[in-house]
Amino acid sequence: MFFKKKVTERNLPTHIAIIMDGNGRWAKKRGLPRSAGHVAGAKTFKTIARYCNKIGIKYLTVYAFSTENWKRPQKEVDGIMNLLRDYLKDAENFKGENIRLKFIGNLEPLADDIKELIVKDEADSADATGLTVNIAINYGGRDEITNAVKKIVQSGIKAEDITEDTISSHLYTSDMPDPDFIIRPSGEYRLSNYLIWQSAYAEYWFSDVLWPDFLPKHLEQALDDYNKRNRRFGGV
Ligand code: FPP
Repeated sequence: MFFKKKVTERNLPTHIAIIMDGNGRWAKKRGLPRSAGHVAGAKTFKTIARYCNKIGIKYLTVYAFSTENWKRPQKEVDGIMNLLRDYLKDAENFKGENIRLKFIGNLEPLADDIKELIVKDEADSADATGLTVNIAINYGGRDEITNAVKKIVQSGIKAEDITEDTISSHLYTSDMPDPDFIIRPSGEYRLSNYLIWQSAYAEYWFSDVLWPDFLPKHLEQALDDYNKRNRRFGGV
């Protein structure tokens, strides 16, 4: 009997989350201001998002600014906010690429013009059916869970009716699956308050490459490793 060789498809994560770390060190190594590292990091973000869309990833969540990042020098905070502003204003960004843009985090303290641009860009890309890119701004996992608890209490749900789904559905990520795969470059091995509820069963991948140097080939290495892992979700 003749058996046709079965081509096994690579098992890709549905949702990748990335901590875009190492911008400051990348700049320092080159004798540049930290802001130059963030500029380079923003370029890498666009390259990696486009690559994810190309290979069929459904969700990419990037950590652009944490609730703790306000403690950085004002100049650096302003630099990151300006990058975000420029990115949001650039009508060419992901235009016609079928990429949906979303923002997660406590957006309230952001400048009014940034908030308006976020509303516009989210609405403009709402019908895209390819990759959903979530940009986490003023995001902190504990802050997110605290806000979820407040919303649940305010809504009057009884304690005995609260389930894990109740919590999940009050997080910023309520309309998307949990991340399957969390990538942190730059040689740090921490979660840094990132998606702490959602990443309960995620796989992790670390690399010494600094984020501005992170290329699609590094993502490919990560995905090859992911493909070899056996996710059991607490089972056997
Ligand atoms: C962490 O590296 C990086 C950040 C706190 C900011 C990340 C922001 C961007 C990549 C730009 C975002 C813009 C858009 C358009 C999404 P670090 O500064 O902590 O680096 P270090 O650990 O080497 O000091």
